Amino acid sequence: MSGDPDDLPEHVVANRRHWDDTADEWVAMGERAWAHDDPSWGVWGVPEAALEMLPADMTGLDAIELGCGTAYVSAWMARRGARVTGIDNSEAQLATARRLAAEHGIELTLIHGNAETVPVPDGSFDFAINEYGAAIWCEPEAWLREAHRLLRPGGQLVFLANHPLAMACAPESGAIVVDRLVRPYFGMHTLDWRHVEIDPGGINFCLPVSDWVALFHRLGFTIDDLREPRAPETAEGVEFFVDAAWASRWPSELVWKVRRR
Ligand SMILES: C[S@@+](CC[C@H](N)C(=O)[O-])C[C@H]1O[C@@H](n2cnc3c(N)ncnc32)[C@H](O)[C@@H]1O
Repeated sequence: MSGDPDDLPEHVVANRRHWDDTADEWVAMGERAWAHDDPSWGVWGVPEAALEMLPADMTGLDAIELGCGTAYVSAWMARRGARVTGIDNSEAQLATARRLAAEHGIELTLIHGNAETVPVPDGSFDFAINEYGAAIWCEPEAWLREAHRLLRPGGQLVFLANHPLAMACAPESGAIVVDRLVRPYFGMHTLDWRHVEIDPGGINFCLPVSDWVALFHRLGFTIDDLREPRAPETAEGVEFFVDAAWASRWPSELVWKVRRR
């Protein structure tokens, strides 16, 4: 266990409780994702061929997943040849990750801790990634500064997060997105779902696009790409706070690819 709860920020303590309490609900999804090696991303399962989140060959690369959950992304990277470290704030999520790594015979270094303060030396990695991990559960400046410290010069960071347009259309009650703007876009940062009426959750973060860009520049990243995954026409139903019809018209997710200068 890393991090005396008394020394951790409020959102890290609250989110640890949330994920330890709900980890059971993620086991089946983790098992499915570990079982195949054709990555697909985000809640709409957009294929790797469309998003190009992972280098095809990661042989010899040191890679880290920041907020790895059940660590299927870590598994995909290890199968591509990388030496992989995963860090997660929830010991219960890591228990699933450890079991699946053992069952699949894949060697991962798994750390219990906060992705805003990773107990690993500067410049340890060539590649960093997360899909709905640190990207939405960690304070943006804190985890991006840490990702920058962890990467070697030229190292790439790729992450998938909620799109701020979807957040601007997400009612404060916790109900699913609507087709109008219901909260301010400018100034968006912390979204506290702990006490909402519908499906309470943890504390998330989301920035306007220009705030992400400003942060990248200030912290020493250059931008390689920005993608806005679209729900395929075959997608149906509701995933978390977004329905497929909405996400086929407007972006519910974004992918940033940035590089340490
Ligand atoms: C949605 S999962 C991401 C993993 C996987 N890609 C997935 O979608 O299932 C979110 C993970 O972020 C972790 N997390 C939340 N706050 C974190 C923090 N401060 N540091 C590291 N991990 C954190 C949670 O414990 C959880 O396992």
